[in-house]
Amino acid sequence: MAQINENYLKLAAGYLFPEIGRRVNAFAQANPEKRVIRMGIGDVTQPLTPAVIKAFHEGVEEMAHPATFKGYGPELGYAFLRTVIAEKAFASRGAHVSPDDIFISDGSKCDTGNIQEIFGSNSRIAICDPVYPVYADTTVMSGKTGNMMGNGYYDGIIYMPCTAENHFIPELPDEVPDLIFLCYPNNPTGTVATKDELKKWVDYALEHKSVILFDAAYEAFIRDPEIPHSIYEIENAEKVAIEFRSLSKTAGFTGTRLAYTIIPSALMGYDSQGNAIPVKKLWDRRHSTKFNGVSYPVQKAAAAVFSEEGQKETQAVIDYYMENAAIIKKSLTTLGYEVYGGENAPYIWTGTPGGMKSWEFFDLLLTRANVVGTPGSGFGPAGEGYFRFSAFADRENVLEAMERIKTV
Ligand code: MLT
Repeated sequence: MAQINENYLKLAAGYLFPEIGRRVNAFAQANPEKRVIRMGIGDVTQPLTPAVIKAFHEGVEEMAHPATFKGYGPELGYAFLRTVIAEKAFASRGAHVSPDDIFISDGSKCDTGNIQEIFGSNSRIAICDPVYPVYADTTVMSGKTGNMMGNGYYDGIIYMPCTAENHFIPELPDEVPDLIFLCYPNNPTGTVATKDELKKWVDYALEHKSVILFDAAYEAFIRDPEIPHSIYEIENAEKVAIEFRSLSKTAGFTGTRLAYTIIPSALMGYDSQGNAIPVKKLWDRRHSTKFNGVSYPVQKAAAAVFSEEGQKETQAVIDYYMENAAIIKKSLTTLGYEVYGGENAPYIWTGTPGGMKSWEFFDLLLTRANVVGTPGSGFGPAGEGYFRFSAFADRENVLEAMERIKTV
């Protein structure tokens, strides 16, 4: 008899974004005459830039000829890509990352979800509330929690509430976690962490031999020059932090798929005898056993993102989305909403009008304005009464959505 992994039965609901998709599709089917504007899931709308497309085509062309054809690539990713990432994404900001510590993958969602596999099954996990649901759901799937309790929290996870009172920056937890998920710029609240803030976490992790799982998928959207893009801009972070980066939002790769994860050689985990073991060795073993790499043309396209032309073009697209963010922020503020984020992140986090429940506001907005956002409670109990708008949309849709919201 095939027994199932019963941890999956503990998951309180379907994954957030398919659930939104299901509700929106049901509405669209019932109201075919309505044009729905989607600002829910953070999915890019602008095409890959010309420099990236050119490199992509060249990569495909190489696959068409015996002399340049490529089969399996190196499991960790091609050296040409890892080298350019180390130089352009890190060294240029004074963060030292060795190309040998970079693992190319097909997504940060997968990497942040899979990373727990190389840590002990009894690891205590700390997550923010609200949070990108992948961290919580994969913790449940891996069997590190009990059931969901009456307060909407899974038994066994250390939750760190992020509220307007603490400016959506979590306090250091009383109970010491082994693994700490942090995401800055933050999804969903759009807040950022200063160097001092990150230093506090690095020092805490050093003191407790914890590991920080730092999701920097939105670093490219930071505009304030004082805000760190990488946790490795903080002294000693290479001893305690894994960083996840993605080209999904940065360069329009949500459908193309390329991300990278940094596990510094200096980062140690501990076996049951207390011996220090390089974490990188374990991820290397996992990656080369369970993953066969990202396709060559995609890696070639990714390298073009870091070329001079690619950087310029990519920045222009990011500016476009950030102008959307500014429009959304200004419109909602003018309408009297309580608004956060949107200045160094592509997400705008807003209080619902009149303290309405998040899903109630979702339904209201969908049915009255035909606009889709993401209910804050889908990111965790502290997200109740909040709502997230994504700036990844076409400009005319953003403008129209803001007009329609006026009538709600
Ligand atoms: C989001 O909307 O939070 C993201 O698009 C989800 C993701 O990157 O997986």
